[in-house]
Order: sequence, then C-alpha cells, then structure tokens
Amino acid sequence: MRRFSDAFLEKIKSKTDIVDLISSYVTVQRKGRDYWACCPFHKEKTPSFQIRSDHQFYRCYGCGKHGNIFNFLMDYENISFAEAVEKLAKKAGLEIPEFTDDPEAKAKSELAEKIYNINKEAAKFYYRNLFSENGALAREYIAKRGLTSDVINTFGIGCSSDFESLPEYLLKKGYAKQSLIDAGVASVNSAGKLSDFFGNRLIIPIIGGNGKVLGFTGRVLVSNPDFAKYKNTQTTLVFNKRKNLFGINLFKKIRQPSGVRSMILVEGHMDVVSLYQAGIQNVVASMGTSLTVEQCREIKRYADLVYVSFDGDSAGQQATLRGLDLLKNEGLDVKVVCLTDNMDPDDYVRKYGKAGYEVLLDKAMPLIDYKLMKVEEKYNLKKSDEKIKYAKDAKNILNSLDEVEKQIYAEVVESKSGVKAETLIEDRPSENAEKPKPVKISGNNAVSKAEAFVMSSFIYGKNYISADDLPEIRKYLTEKKYIEVFDKFMKGLLGGALPKVSDVFDILGDDPLAAVLADEADKIDAADQKSYYLQCMSILKQDYIGKELRRLTAEFNNETDVEAKEKIRIQIKNLTKAQPK
Ligand code: UTP
Ligand code: MN
Repeated sequence: MRRFSDAFLEKIKSKTDIVDLISSYVTVQRKGRDYWACCPFHKEKTPSFQIRSDHQFYRCYGCGKHGNIFNFLMDYENISFAEAVEKLAKKAGLEIPEFTDDPEAKAKSELAEKIYNINKEAAKFYYRNLFSENGALAREYIAKRGLTSDVINTFGIGCSSDFESLPEYLLKKGYAKQSLIDAGVASVNSAGKLSDFFGNRLIIPIIGGNGKVLGFTGRVLVSNPDFAKYKNTQTTLVFNKRKNLFGINLFKKIRQPSGVRSMILVEGHMDVVSLYQAGIQNVVASMGTSLTVEQCREIKRYADLVYVSFDGDSAGQQATLRGLDLLKNEGLDVKVVCLTDNMDPDDYVRKYGKAGYEVLLDKAMPLIDYKLMKVEEKYNLKKSDEKIKYAKDAKNILNSLDEVEKQIYAEVVESKSGVKAETLIEDRPSENAEKPKPVKISGNNAVSKAEAFVMSSFIYGKNYISADDLPEIRKYLTEKKYIEVFDKFMKGLLGGALPKVSDVFDILGDDPLAAVLADEADKIDAADQKSYYLQCMSILKQDYIGKELRRLTAEFNNETDVEAKEKIRIQIKNLTKAQPK
C-alpha cells in the first residue's frame, strides 16, 4: 500500500474547500452557518445532508454517511483512498510526492484481501449448502425459528453439514492451507487435517460496514452441552469481536426520518435477525462480549441515541451497566429497554410483534432513571436503615452526572429518601468518600491484578493518573509486555499524540494481555476507580520495595567495604520508611 505523508494530506486539505468540492457534484444551499444538500448517497427529497464549512466535514442525517474531502470522493466516485488523494492533489495543483513503499504494510493489505476473498467464498459455499440435500437439518431448524427466505437472503445465512467439505472446497479453489487458517474458517484437527471451524452449524456471516465478510458466527443445530451454542470467528487480521458490530452493514443502508439517528443494541445475532425480519431494522449486536470502547465509538459514528435491549436477565448486571456508562461517556444518549420474564428481544418480538416491541421502545428508560430504579429495587425504603443505604448508593450515581442532571435527579432521590438534595450533591467529596475503599484484590496474584488495572487506566488516559505517577508506574511494572506498551505510549505522548486503546492491539497483536488492558480499568465502577487505583499503586509499591529490600540485603551481606556497607544500610533504611503502611 502506498503511504502519503500526513503533511502532504494536510496540504491537500488546506487547498480544498469541502463546500466547493461537494457543490461541484450536487446542488448545495446555504442555511445559517452550514450548507445543505439532498444526500447523494441515498434517495431523498428534502435535504438532510449537512456540510460544515468550519470543520470541513459532511454528515447525512438520513443515512449516516459522513467524512472529509477524501471520504466524499471515495464514496461518490467509488474509488480508493489513493485514487481520491491523487485526484484532489491534481485539482489543487499539487505534485504527487514519491512514495515510500512499506513492505510490511503491503504484505498486511494483501493478506487482508486474501482473507476477504476466502470469507466470501466460504459464505457462498455455506449459503448454497443450506439449499442442498445436506442442508435439510438446518432448513428444518430455520423453519422452526420462523425465519423467512427474505431474511435468509438478506443476511446470507447458510449452514455447514460436516467438517471436511468446506476446507476441501477451498483447497480445490487454490487457497493455501495456511490462508484458510489465517482467515479463521478452518483449523487443524488432532489428526493433522484441516477441519471446518464451524462444522455442523447454522452459519451467519458477519459483514462489516465496508460490505465485506469479516467472519462468521455458527450456532449449533442440535443443542449439546459438549459444544458452545455459538462460536465466533477468532481474532484475525480483519475480524475482532471486540471491535466489530454485527448488523452494521445493514444498519448503514436503512433510512431514518430526518434528524433521527437511533440504534437498537442487542446481545445476540439472532436478536438482530429476528427484529430485522419483524421490520425493526436499526439494530446491531455486540456479539456476546461486554461492550468495548471501540464498539461504542463505532456506534457513535452512526447514532446519537442508543436503545440498549439486552436479555431480561442481563441488563441489570454490573458488567452491563459499565458498558452502558461507556456509551454515555462517548456522548451518546442511552435508553434501556426493559424486557420481562427472562425474554430476549427475539422471543419478545415473536410473541408480541413489531407493535409490541415498539411499545417497549417508547417506554425505554433513560440510563440514569434505570440505574436509580435498580438501586431502589435493592432496598426496602420503608425501613430507615435501608433508606440510608439507598441514599448512599444513589448519591454515588448522582455524583457521576453532569451539573444539570445532578440537580434534577437529586430532587428525585430526595423525595424517596428524605435526604436533602444539597447533601446528595455536595460537590466536594466528604472525608469519608475520599478514603479509599478496602482493597478487594488479594491473594498471590494481587500484584498482577494491580499491574493490569494500573496499565489499563494508563492506556485509557484516566485522569486520576497524574504525570508525576508515570515514572513511578514505569518502575513498578514487572510484565515485559506491559513495559513495551508503556514505553511505546510514552513515546507517543511525548510526541503529542493521544493514546488510543486500539493501538494496544497493534503492539501486542493477539496476546491475551491486550484484551486484559482493554477491559480492566472499566471493570471497576467509575466512581471507585480512583481509590482502587491508589490501592493498586500501593500494592505495586509494596511489592517493588520488598524486592528491592531483598536485593539490597543480599548486597549488604556480601559487602565487605565498611563505607559501601553504610551506604547500603541507608538505602535500606530509606526504603523501609517509604514502605506503604
Ligand atoms: P444467547 O445465549 O443470549 O443466545 O447469546 P441467543 O441470542 O438468545 O440465541 P438463540 O436464540 O438461543 O439462538 C447471545 C450472544 O452471545 C454470544 C453470541 O454472540 C450470541 O449471539 N454467545 C452465546 C457466544 O459467543 N457463545 C455461546 O456459547 C453463547
Ligand atoms: Mn434467543
């Protein structure tokens, strides 16, 4: 892949006005600060395509398309980034600079291309298989679930009927064994033979926003406790279940009323398929893992309002609530759809239909109301001791809100607890609140847990880590991989770049520690993170000092020179003093 320097791209941007560019393709109209047009990317009669001249980007409120000058040209003319750059450079009268060929980047993009092709072939194979003799069992399953042939086609659903056919088919097509493994469609079994990773399953392709098949999810056709119900493609060069959202390809195609950018977020692939079939199509799934920052950012590209519609039993769980905070932190409006009786969206819409589900959407609760309700459910407010606990829990929630929200919701809590609103929203934390909570981490892996939390907080740029802490953190780290990440991030920070959590995946690749880093910080409630961090630092410091003391003591015992011995003694004394209590 050819690489243009940032400086060159900036030059093109500075010489190309986005309003001029777009108005050479479509008619634009000025309204106030912005320019508006009928969106060239979807059919519409009234303009919902906004061009912001001040920030040099466009955004369609109808279809969600947005971007800068390069994106516009790529989408409008259906050309690659490099081609768009060349065209715009020419228009701006700029000479295209010599390219530095980056062999690593080139190899990567070639492999990605290969994986996309294999995935596409596999998807076609599975789809055809569904309608063949071998697909009888899967067709029966589909009929049982009531899926229509329309929705089968829209999602490209297929099936695998054994473990050999797919790899054999792809090998015959000329793909190398290793490529099938790289794509994640096959693995090597104990006999050393290639085996379909999704053997004997119903197959749902996972298609990206670029319209390409990124991977698959496979559901068992006959339930069997020996097999996981669902299996997703493992991390490949083009697929990462922590970054991708199922259904985003279809979401991008739907049209919402102008000014509305809402998205329903569900847990399961089948929930997406089922809601879609029922006519509720602004829906995507998070693929069964707890929500990640990357996914939240992806959502933010397409929506302003997210209806979280998780299974009846899971929405109130701590892990889920943390995920919802992530959405809110990205600036999204979050509403929680309450499902009853342990139903999931699929069950619900099949039982009560589109209209029934829309009633739930209408009744969806703003995140804060939902959280306060969950706290209220925990206690019996008729008993004064429980009322106090309620007020304390609610206070924690209130203090994570912005000033306006705080004001409004404090009154709600006052009316239920009798505690004055002012007391609930003291902006200065009381003596008590400041005191770190007792350490929850203990046991022989306390150090590695503490290290993971501190590193995770570091890569998220959490504001409770001060610049002064950084050298200290570096000193305490023991895990080599963390040190590598830390040093790379520091280099970036010093160069003025903000760390991006997704960079960790570039540095550590598939190493499980990458996922730990992306997860760990937000496993703790936002309100408790700071005190938890302090505890972790104290554990790390203790560990570090312990090791140093052992080292120095050994040195002390081996030293024969009196003066040198005295120096070590002082070091030991100082370290002992510095030990956290
Ligand atoms: P659920 O267990 O809620 O399944 O898993 P579901 O969506 O109701 O599916 P059906 O109706 O039984 O077919 C929700 C999501 O969790 C992930 C999958 O992404 C699934 O869509 N999951 C679940 C797994 O990855 N592995 C599993 O074994 C189960
Ligand atoms: Mn289900």
